[in-house]
Amino acid sequence: NAQDLREKYRPEFHFSPKANWMNDPNGMVYHNGIFHLFFQYYPNDKIWGPMHWGHATSKDMVSWDEQPIALYPDSLGYIFSGSAVADVHNTSGFGKDGKFPLVAIFTHHNPVLEKLETGKHEYQSLAYSLDDGKTWTKYSGNPVLQNPGISDFRDPKVSWFEPQKKWIMTLATKDRVTFYSSPDLKSWVRESDFGVDAGAHGGVWECPDLFPIQHNGKQVWVLIVNINPGGPNQGSAGQYFLGDFDGKTFKPYSKETKWLDFGTDNYASVTFSNTGSRMLMMGWMSNWQYANLVPTHPWRSACTIARELGLKTVGKEIYLTSTPVKELDVLRSTGFNEQNVKVQGQLDLTEKTKNSTGLFRLELETKNTADFSIVLANNEGNELVVGYDKATNQYYIDRSKSGKIDFEKGFGQKHTAPRLSKDPTMDLTLIADAASVELFADGGLTPMTDIFFPDSKMSKLYIKSISGTTLKKLGYSVLQPETKSA
Ligand code: FRU
Repeated sequence: NAQDLREKYRPEFHFSPKANWMNDPNGMVYHNGIFHLFFQYYPNDKIWGPMHWGHATSKDMVSWDEQPIALYPDSLGYIFSGSAVADVHNTSGFGKDGKFPLVAIFTHHNPVLEKLETGKHEYQSLAYSLDDGKTWTKYSGNPVLQNPGISDFRDPKVSWFEPQKKWIMTLATKDRVTFYSSPDLKSWVRESDFGVDAGAHGGVWECPDLFPIQHNGKQVWVLIVNINPGGPNQGSAGQYFLGDFDGKTFKPYSKETKWLDFGTDNYASVTFSNTGSRMLMMGWMSNWQYANLVPTHPWRSACTIARELGLKTVGKEIYLTSTPVKELDVLRSTGFNEQNVKVQGQLDLTEKTKNSTGLFRLELETKNTADFSIVLANNEGNELVVGYDKATNQYYIDRSKSGKIDFEKGFGQKHTAPRLSKDPTMDLTLIADAASVELFADGGLTPMTDIFFPDSKMSKLYIKSISGTTLKKLGYSVLQPETKSA
């Protein structure tokens, strides 16, 4: 029917708003058994506009329920990106009757001041909730952090630094990040800057994040900095640095950029707060290069699946790993697991997978001795190719024949990613929704996220290897989203 046709690119197990424009995930926080996702939202059109915080909730980060808008623009400006914390010690004093508040720390972006070009149109403000995130009250003392005259001064990510019992705000300040600290979320002092002489600078720095991960008995601090443009395959992308943080200064092990994801469609990725030692991340599954042009209706954009972050040492380097959260296993339906599957030329899995929806999870293990590719296809002749190229030791996603690509000139490009692992055995997990693939290669050392717009469902599946290879393991599950009653 007409509705189905219009919604043919609607993801089935990724969050997307019912209607209109979305960009960055914001204020992701786990509280009372519920994951809260807020997001940059323009409820009046399918293109970017005056920003609100939309809201969605989930028990498992897999099936999301959209909630009423949490924050509306006001006289101080649009509500840009930011974070939310559970202020369990009620340091802010917003708590009441023994109930602690959830506090959102966000950027107010003032379009009137922007026109005056004083460079002071972005500043940080607070809102709090005393009903577990349902409704939000803006703080009467906003803004809490004034702008010293930096044209890009935004996206506060706040977390509690237990050793010094203070809040740390990691803020994107144009070509660097600036760390601030506060005892109460209301008064902030500048601690230090990082990044002018480090990392990629092909674009403005946005949406940072800072958190520790335990690795081989040592605490490693991860600093994420999103950048637009200047990503490894063009457009917007996320980079990260590893190092030490002492409550004041971030000291990187290396000033060189490492990429969070090599696909083009994982931007503004940051972590949930209040999840203990589990670091869970979600990003905006699009790219500023074409986000306003993608052929979906009546909404635009979705979030990536939630990923769990870890660290892995390869030679002398440590890298961040991203893997699908275990909660996604609820989607697994029929499937198979096989061993020692020979691929010579083309292995057609279409009959065996019998999957008219094209929603699946594929897991395979093989050796790095031959080229191979995984091809998603349909009756219209569209092909989305995910593969490994031995000569360059690169993974790639080629969406040049994947369906609709002509809405933007760069969209059809092939994307490549280095294979970082030195292990001769390679493992790949591929998660396909209606209009996206997410590849997690080598235990998540090389992730790639790409969206695409096929003319019909990708119900055919092939594995190809011209020189021939053996899949030590081949696992396949149909992914079946929980059907919601209308
Ligand atoms: C990143 C970003 C943020 C900003 C928001 C505005 O995608 O540009 O820096 O807060 O989007 O919607």
